[in-house]
Amino acid sequence: MTAALPHHIEAASPHVMNTYGRLPIALSHGQGCRVWDVNGKCYLDALGGIAVNTLGHNHPRLVPALQDQIGKLIHCSNYYHVPLQEALAAKLVELSGLENVFFCSTGLEANEAALKLARKYGHDKGIERPEVVVYEKAFHGRSIATLSATGNAKVQAGFGPLVEGFIRVPLNDIEAIKKATAGNPNVTAVFFEAIQGEGGVHPMNDQYMRDIRKLCDERDWLLMIDEVQCGMGRTGKWFAHQWSGVKPDVMPLAKGLGSGVPIGAVVCGPKAAQIFKVGNHGTTFGGNPLAMRAGVETIRIMEDDNIIANAIHTGGHLRAALERELSGLAGVVNIRGRGLMLGIELALPCGELLKQAADEGLLISVTADSVIRLVPPLIMTTAEADQVVAILVPLIKQFLHGKTHADSVPVASLINE
Ligand SMILES: Cc1ncc(COP(=O)(O)O)c(C=O)c1O
Repeated sequence: MTAALPHHIEAASPHVMNTYGRLPIALSHGQGCRVWDVNGKCYLDALGGIAVNTLGHNHPRLVPALQDQIGKLIHCSNYYHVPLQEALAAKLVELSGLENVFFCSTGLEANEAALKLARKYGHDKGIERPEVVVYEKAFHGRSIATLSATGNAKVQAGFGPLVEGFIRVPLNDIEAIKKATAGNPNVTAVFFEAIQGEGGVHPMNDQYMRDIRKLCDERDWLLMIDEVQCGMGRTGKWFAHQWSGVKPDVMPLAKGLGSGVPIGAVVCGPKAAQIFKVGNHGTTFGGNPLAMRAGVETIRIMEDDNIIANAIHTGGHLRAALERELSGLAGVVNIRGRGLMLGIELALPCGELLKQAADEGLLISVTADSVIRLVPPLIMTTAEADQVVAILVPLIKQFLHGKTHADSVPVASLINE
């Protein structure tokens, strides 16, 4: 059983706004792919702070680098030049083949910037009411604009009126987007996640991405690919769209870029790099020295330690083991994803597995009600992946078996991003 919370941590904290569905666990520290709660119970971390802790916990090179930076300068504002911004931007430009970068602090901010770029791109061309193509099941964040772009009625409920100017289409259907935009002169951009995370680990096909690139070129639209969750090495390339060979015009990043230090970035290609002029966009915290150092060191360590190769190796090993154990089992719809971004879709809502897994010492998440999502630190070893399988597979089997009894009530998942 999960140990009870200590007295000073109330299950329903009266002073913290009640916006998340939390497990009755408080974590105190971590090491590599393991974390411990305040009662000393150890968990294997296959969630990575929701695809954030790229280098796991207490990394022996990242921690001293951040300590060094904290002792020098944490924040100074963008009234001044921040040399670490140039260092990180140059690296992101090199890795993406794009041109320049705007820094912010979160995924939704990166996506807000992308949406503003799409609007200004239109206005600069004389389009007064620009429209952006977005996707069913998409998740782009919780601000009013990004939740309007999100394709999930649950996230949007209660927050109308939503921002206008979005055209929604199904995934991987080139004819559908052509039909939805036919004769519309106001479209300025197409915006999607290379692999949808929160929506249930749904990849865009490589061929579809190539077809969309061609369409965007023909029609002078911006191709904007949200790599907030699937980017930064998680799928076995620096950015998930790179599997398809295309280059976006606008690429929002966040999550894994700082290994846990809040950071966001919008990386732009030539078509988008000069849209914003001085005064068009900004943020107080964006690009501060601590976040920039986290980004620079994360990438340096990833390169030195071949972390991307590890994501492919451990991800392939994990997927093969899950397929061996679960494929063909009644109630398992399929296993999908790339590298260390994997989803196991079950035929029933399975939110209750979150707590059951934690009880057994494994941290996971469940998205889209019935998809178990595994997004562990990219340093996970194959031995640790075997432990994930050893804990998770019996739970899934037991869960599916339990659901054959008429009295069981499936539990939907909560969105905690
Ligand atoms: C693809 C994608 N875009 C944007 C966001 C929003 O990022 P943040 O929670 O940092 O605002 C998320 C968060 O889960 C995401 O998965």
